[in-house]
Amino acid sequence: MDCAADEFILDAVLAAGAPVPSSCTPGMRGACKFSLLGGTGEMNHAGGIRPGEIAAGKILICCSTPTGDLVIDA
Ligand code: FES
Repeated sequence: MDCAADEFILDAVLAAGAPVPSSCTPGMRGACKFSLLGGTGEMNHAGGIRPGEIAAGKILICCSTPTGDLVIDA
């Protein structure tokens, strides 16, 4: 799946037809929280994820853009 550098990961995933959970957008309630298994992303959330979750490798894909190749547990 391709995701442009300025495209939110959630939008690319949904455009590819993958049924992933999401609700609030952007980054408020955490419905689109997944484990980042590889790569990095730039996330600008609105409180929907805790610092400890970020440290543990979680990401909100509705408010994140890729900074390279990514692998998420979706
Ligand atoms: S859809 Fe709500 S935090 Fe991503």
